[in-house]
Amino acid sequence: MLGILPLVTILVCGAQALPGNVENALAYGQVADRHFNVEERLLRDGYYSESHTVTTSDGYMLEINRIPFRRHETVDNATKTSKPVVFMLHGLQGSSISYVTLGPGRALAYILADEGYDVWMGNARGVLNSRRHVTLDPNVDVEEFFDITFEDIGMKDLPAIIDYILELTGKSKLHYIGHSQGGTAFLVLNSMLPEYNQKIASANLLAGVGYQENFPNRVLSLLAISTNPIYTYALRQGIIEILGPDWNSFLNDAECNDDNFETCSLLIIKEIMGDLFNTLETLAGASIKQYAHYGQNIRSKSFRRWYYSPITNLIKYGSLNPPEYQISAITVDVTMHYTVNDSLLDEQDVIDMAKVMPNTRTRKVARETYSHTDFVVAPDSKELVYDYIVESLNKYEL
Ligand SMILES: *[C@@H]1O[C@H](CO)[C@@H](O)[C@H](O)[C@H]1NC(C)=O
Ligand SMILES: *[C@@H]1O[C@H](CO)[C@@H](O)[C@H](O)[C@H]1NC(C)=O
Repeated sequence: MLGILPLVTILVCGAQALPGNVENALAYGQVADRHFNVEERLLRDGYYSESHTVTTSDGYMLEINRIPFRRHETVDNATKTSKPVVFMLHGLQGSSISYVTLGPGRALAYILADEGYDVWMGNARGVLNSRRHVTLDPNVDVEEFFDITFEDIGMKDLPAIIDYILELTGKSKLHYIGHSQGGTAFLVLNSMLPEYNQKIASANLLAGVGYQENFPNRVLSLLAISTNPIYTYALRQGIIEILGPDWNSFLNDAECNDDNFETCSLLIIKEIMGDLFNTLETLAGASIKQYAHYGQNIRSKSFRRWYYSPITNLIKYGSLNPPEYQISAITVDVTMHYTVNDSLLDEQDVIDMAKVMPNTRTRKVARETYSHTDFVVAPDSKELVYDYIVESLNKYEL
């Protein structure tokens, strides 16, 4: 661990000013109950919208946004439930806004609504719009509320949301679209609760992260070796909810010097993630544990459940190490879209996942400079990715 300290020092000292260019980002401490007004945004763009609240089995209250009609289309309850349903889940630090940011004619949610789909968008637990719980107060019971990994999203948020939508629309299947962590959650859901394969007609994963054997970012890979001590230290410093570019006041004042490996590591991770996410219009919040779970997987070069400690693993899982997610159980018709300029997901890992998933194909984006977040922010995503998705969904009758 100490061996990489010189590297850490060089990186931090050589780093430029932290990215402060994230528009609309909220400073830490201003959280309160503020959320993004998605309905207002959809109305402004010419779409009728609905907000629904879905409560999970463990009490999280999630905001779900629905666009049931085309742009400027007359509201009509009869046609609403006859449309095929698409459900979309955002990535880490994203929210339902991710899928409308590009605006009418360009954003995936709007394109699908205009094509005649009943479009639903989720906000995972911990995201500003889903920062509610039946009994926990996220501002008071911070540690308990934000004890969240992508597995909770996959195994608790997704079943609650999917069942709610299918029940309300009277459908037996829906289409799934997930960006980044929204793809991870899909992989977790259908490996751990394979009965959900029957409820999903098709899935398009946009840089959906699963296998991490060839994780591309070298610096994050090095830091991932020490995920557990860094995570434990972060919790001790009160770094629990990651909201906006500042992370928290402790890190705002912190400096990197040779005798604090964990602080340096957190500053570097914050810097790198800030750079990666700075094209997102809004940073919607997440838990440090979500980052740590990815870190554990990068370290172990695998896609597996949360690592507690050998003893706790033994009690919870019956093995010293956490079990891997069995993605071979995923029978849904899946397209994994990926790009070669992605610092969080390597081409080889995508290909390797598709090899073990029986109905999965891979699709490389035909622009080499396209990046991880471009899937929701690049204006040419329509031509490069979304047109393909629309065409593939149109082949189904749901
Ligand atoms: C449409 O359904 C909503 C409830 O979902 C109801 O309040 C409304 O009156 C209905 N509108 C029409 C025109 O039937
Ligand atoms: C790769 O993506 C990043 C954004 O993550 C972008 O800044 C950079 O220019 C891209 N690099 C290449 C070689 O296309």
